[in-house]
Amino acid sequence: MLKLTKICKSFSNTQVLKDISFEIPKNKIVGLLGPNGAGKTTIMRIITGFLTANQGTLRWKRKIIDPRDPSFRSLIGYLPESNPLYMSFTPVEYLSFVARLKGISKTNLVKEVKKVSQQTDIASVLTKKIETLSKGFKQRVALSATLLGDPQLLVLDEATSGLDPKQILEVRKLIKKLAKDKSILFSTHILPEAKAICDQILIINQGRIVLDSDIKKVRNLEKKFIQLTQ
Ligand SMILES: Nc1ncnc2c1ncn2[C@@H]1O[C@H](COP(=O)(O)OP(=O)(O)OP(=O)(O)O)[C@@H](O)[C@H]1O
Ligand SMILES: [Mg+2]
Repeated sequence: MLKLTKICKSFSNTQVLKDISFEIPKNKIVGLLGPNGAGKTTIMRIITGFLTANQGTLRWKRKIIDPRDPSFRSLIGYLPESNPLYMSFTPVEYLSFVARLKGISKTNLVKEVKKVSQQTDIASVLTKKIETLSKGFKQRVALSATLLGDPQLLVLDEATSGLDPKQILEVRKLIKKLAKDKSILFSTHILPEAKAICDQILIINQGRIVLDSDIKKVRNLEKKFIQLTQ
């Protein structure tokens, strides 16, 4: 569904992505793994149009696209590494604000906000100030904003980082549920998490893809990860 071909990216004179090629198939979860600084966030920022690649192409449903194009961006839900919430807003205010930015019409706004709040189970905190919420609820509010407009592709950068074990399981369950009708690119540092939820696994090291495999075909992910990222 989304296909990256030979994507390269440099900052000043340093090349941080080297010939990155992979696909995110329809209704599948692709896990992006790699050590700190490997290039995971940079790939996600290129897909979501926040950075431009120096070389390479992106295809959506086989057609070459510019990720900065608003019509493509409306198909994507992006959860950045550090979620950009307005702490003085309540979730309902924040989600309504994001819904308007995403161009959701006034008539659909209430319905949409209600729908995503139910999906992420935040109905009980909708009118509390975001700054007063636990980390887990803040993360779910950010995820709700990502889901507004029913995007076809979700790009989730460390969606479960900093959550307690119970919340990690809940967010994982939610992501699995969402993959029934969405494609998902999901970065994580937690290898058992990748095993638990991903269909396909990518390992990136120093800006290069060093493994692209069906998760079922990877025998010992921990060992493989250490071997490939030395
Ligand atoms: N805007 C920027 N300017 C210069 N260098 C950058 C910029 N953004 C990222 N880099 C560099 O690109 C490389 C890849 O960074 P990136 O944030 O993509 O890694 P990551 O895999 O997401 O790491 P982490 O696991 O720590 O989140 C790093 O060396 C980083 O310092
Ligand atoms: Mg990152």
